Amino acid sequence: MNQNEIKVFCPATVANISCGFDVLGVALDSVGDEMIVRKVSKKGIQITKISGQDLPKETLNNVAGVAGNAFLLAADYDGGFEIEINKKIKPGSGIGSSAASSAGAVWAMNHLLGNPFNKTELVEFAMEGERLASDVAHADNVAPALFGGFTLVRSYNPLDIVTIPAPSELYITIIHPQIEIKTSDSRKILKTTISMEIGIKQWGNVGGLIAGLFKEDYELIGRSLEDHIVEPIRSILIPGFNEVKKVSLEAGALGSGISGSGPSIFAFSKGKETALKVGNVMKSIYDKIGIAYEIHVSKVNTEGVKLL
Ligand code: HSE
Repeated sequence: MNQNEIKVFCPATVANISCGFDVLGVALDSVGDEMIVRKVSKKGIQITKISGQDLPKETLNNVAGVAGNAFLLAADYDGGFEIEINKKIKPGSGIGSSAASSAGAVWAMNHLLGNPFNKTELVEFAMEGERLASDVAHADNVAPALFGGFTLVRSYNPLDIVTIPAPSELYITIIHPQIEIKTSDSRKILKTTISMEIGIKQWGNVGGLIAGLFKEDYELIGRSLEDHIVEPIRSILIPGFNEVKKVSLEAGALGSGISGSGPSIFAFSKGKETALKVGNVMKSIYDKIGIAYEIHVSKVNTEGVKLL
């Protein structure tokens, strides 16, 4: 590869992490897409190749193209970029497929131009890809995809991203049922107001989870993985959700919930052995249900999009 072309890994992400709807997310180490981005003299963004999934190549219909356009609009650069995407994360999976493409595109372009923008600015560009994918420019997938580790969107306006350390023995197990749930659809069914009583429970858990991650207090992390707002509504869309969660906790998981807008279900465990065991019990439920699935067991990715 020449210096005008780079290949990057774009991590999958778990957004919301139970209690933090639209504000919390974490990047996965061993699950993600690959992208080749090339600096060219022709202005604009061209998606020249997509493998792995059937997705639109037209710039304005592709999240990488839209995020890339937002980047180009702000950049002091006269040329353009070509993008090749090797899509390994299925769209509608709940593990940040659109975020991986949006974040990967803007990170790679920034790298090729000598890093004129900081990561928070890159998050703003990548959020435009999320706006195309889900009608809302949420940052809880693109922030961890770009920063790595756990991130908190403390504020959207102005955008304020806080990075949170990942406990060294924390493992994430994901079951990805092979059904598609569009984020835009699963947002439409949510209520727009909550009671004070529910609010108190929810922000107690957000604070508890953040404190648990900083203190490496695995029990506190587990106790805080509760969602009183979104999970009761969205879980109805996910076959076997309650059973998967139940057996995961019985197998030793610290906690479990919906990954992003689903259908993937995540569980946090202390140690790889428990995380693998959790994967096995998740499998047993889906084998009974008879829906195809993929299982991922991963550590936390601590650097975000990276060069390959
Ligand atoms: N916070 C977003 C949602 C994440 O739950 O709708 C989508 O992956």
